[in-house]
Amino acid sequence: MAKISFEKVPHKSPTPADKRTALMADPGFGRVFSDHMVTVQWTQGVGWHDAKVRAREPFQMDPAAAVLHYAQEIFEGMKAYRKPGGGFGLFRPDENARRFNESAKRMAMPDVPEEMFLEAIDQLVKVDADWVPSGEGSYYLRPFMFASEAFLGVRPANEYIFCVIGCPVGAYFKGGFKTVQVWVSEEYTRAAPGGTGAAKCGGNYASSLVATKEAFDNGCDQVVFLDAVERKWIDELGGMNIFFVMDDRSIITPPLNTILPGITRESVMKLASDAGYKVAETPYSFDQWQADARSGKLREAFACGTAAVIAGIGKVKYRGGEFAIGNSGDGEATTKLRAQLTGIQRGTVDDTYGWMRSV
Ligand code: PLP
Ligand code: COI
Repeated sequence: MAKISFEKVPHKSPTPADKRTALMADPGFGRVFSDHMVTVQWTQGVGWHDAKVRAREPFQMDPAAAVLHYAQEIFEGMKAYRKPGGGFGLFRPDENARRFNESAKRMAMPDVPEEMFLEAIDQLVKVDADWVPSGEGSYYLRPFMFASEAFLGVRPANEYIFCVIGCPVGAYFKGGFKTVQVWVSEEYTRAAPGGTGAAKCGGNYASSLVATKEAFDNGCDQVVFLDAVERKWIDELGGMNIFFVMDDRSIITPPLNTILPGITRESVMKLASDAGYKVAETPYSFDQWQADARSGKLREAFACGTAAVIAGIGKVKYRGGEFAIGNSGDGEATTKLRAQLTGIQRGTVDDTYGWMRSV
């Protein structure tokens, strides 16, 4: 495909600087949005067209748009950081582009050329540069694609919209970087073999919400899903992968198949292995988790993902009770890996892995 060029349509009334500063003072996660968005359309027989960097505004959609009925939709999440010497750094966006296309394949949607995906992201960061926080915050980018064709028959749509929006964000969890409490869902599962667990599609999250509500109702921050076949093995959290740190410096994480292949997960595996931990992708049962936490063999557990970064897990609750992990605070490995990962992302630790893309 020929390189797509983006038409730039500047915002007619961007947010005034004083209002922007106020909004960015405590943005939370996913509540405050920057001024622009990028959109590109796809039509069967034509391909990608009408690429625009434009004011962020509501879509006009036909009530029969296929996404509203059959949820043909995928998304990604990545962050841009202000670099100490100026400019911006994006963490492994090529991996997001690759995973986006894996999701697209699973959802019978068109391939998004990696170059177009990355260019869209660069363009949004540049046009909304003032919205990228300094200090602890970051700019979260949300690329997504949905079936826009008005058609109620059940088949892959013939029209799609690819869009990128962005928001300044702080910590994902309300308590900042305190350890979190998780709820193990024994009733609801997230993904079965052959299903869409490895794709980042909206439907996975829709079906997770009842379990997330159960977690919130039980005073927890996130839900932990077990496998759908035996209801025995730990899969992942509602929006994060999970790691377990043992007393012999081994670290384990559930294997891929029905879980999202997290980019943070893969990065943490590399960092931990290079720091001398024995890292393995191994099935780990909920029973074993309880036994190891109670015996002290399990020292730490943490959740990781783009939004959450690395969050220590202090307590685990389930219908039959609860148990603590370690002393319920962040453990040594969690703290060390988080410092190294965020250091690379923020440009204060050498990027020896070549993970950062400069904008
Ligand atoms: N698992 C789920 C279900 C997620 O939504 C996410 C977040 O994107 C992750 C894992 C972590 O993936 P990543 O590290 O690529 O953000
Ligand atoms: C991300 O980390 O990018 C996600 O999509 C997960 C969600 C909790 C926001």
